[in-house]
Amino acid sequence: MGVEVAVEGLTKSFGSQRIWQDVTLTLPAGEVSALLGPSGTGKSVFLKSLIGLLRPERGSIVIDGTDILQCSSKELYEIRKLFGVLFQDGALFGSMNLYDNVAFPLREHTKKSESEIRKIVMEKLELVGLLGAEDKLPGEISGGMRKRAGLARALVLDPQIILVDEPDSGLDPVRTTYISQTLIDINAEIDATILIVSHNINLARTVPDNIGMLFRRELVMFGPREVLLTSDEPVVKQFLNGTMIGPIGMSEEKDEATMAQEQALVDAGHHAGGVEDVEGIVPQMKATPGMPERQAVARRQERVRHILHTLPEAAQQAILESLEHENTMSDFIGSEAPTTVLPRVAL
Ligand SMILES: Nc1ncnc2c1ncn2[C@@H]1O[C@H](COP(=O)(O)OP(=O)(O)O)[C@@H](O)[C@H]1O
Ligand SMILES: [Mg+2]
Repeated sequence: MGVEVAVEGLTKSFGSQRIWQDVTLTLPAGEVSALLGPSGTGKSVFLKSLIGLLRPERGSIVIDGTDILQCSSKELYEIRKLFGVLFQDGALFGSMNLYDNVAFPLREHTKKSESEIRKIVMEKLELVGLLGAEDKLPGEISGGMRKRAGLARALVLDPQIILVDEPDSGLDPVRTTYISQTLIDINAEIDATILIVSHNINLARTVPDNIGMLFRRELVMFGPREVLLTSDEPVVKQFLNGTMIGPIGMSEEKDEATMAQEQALVDAGHHAGGVEDVEGIVPQMKATPGMPERQAVARRQERVRHILHTLPEAAQQAILESLEHENTMSDFIGSEAPTTVLPRVAL
């Protein structure tokens, strides 16, 4: 199973520029968490801090009993082996085909034979839906396929913690759903602790067990998905509904595409945009039929049951409803299991 990542009082600045301060959260072992926030709020900086690529000046990051901000570089090197990371651009080597890209960490960090390597590479390429594309160069494939290849490469060393920076950037909504499904399937298959950094509302609503939100240099909230999805906290609500009404404004370093979309909405006579009218909580994505059950589900239910009384009323209600729904669904699957398996498409 994946390991827990416990972050406490973390503060990061570049020179006099404070990126965020006093961030405290625990990524529960083996669960999927998402960190949301408008562009420029320091999500990527946070992700890089977790693997020790950037050094926050205050706080602690305890992984497997080791505070990576205090430990020796040798210890940090060992801790880093627990991680698989998908950077925002996929970070593939342009001159290597997908097979060699995915095989790279194995050739670099292990003494495995080429036949052992082949077995692992093909297995991971299959998991991300890229079987058959081994000979392609990164420049010959779509952005979605590059992300999948980056994901396959992040998986080859059997990571216990997987960090994924904006798996959806540059992808259309359908491809985003496919990659979301892949992330859930990976969690089902290897039970790793996963942190997804994103500003995609659909992904945020359907994929993670836990959600956190960064805004104005603070972690506004972090907790079980039901807490954020039912929250009345203005910035959380605005973000998860994608509306213009709320504390997040034009000046919060939005990218040009976002600004153009907003302008188009205004031009069309809408005043807020977004999906404000969505009622209740969308059910969480499940592993593709045929995959192992996500062990995180039962563990999380147990964990959330313990803290239930500490949560806001609306979140408690939503959790109880989802538990009920879960039970009805398993009854349904027990009697009349849907046998359709989603096709794996190459993106
Ligand atoms: N290595 C760096 N040196 C100086 N400033 C940086 C560095 N990396 C990121 N920043 C700054 O940190 C802020 C947050 O960046 P980032 O984490 O990329 O935001 P996000 O991923 O949420 O869009 C930005 O203002 C960015 O310019
Ligand atoms: Mg980023």
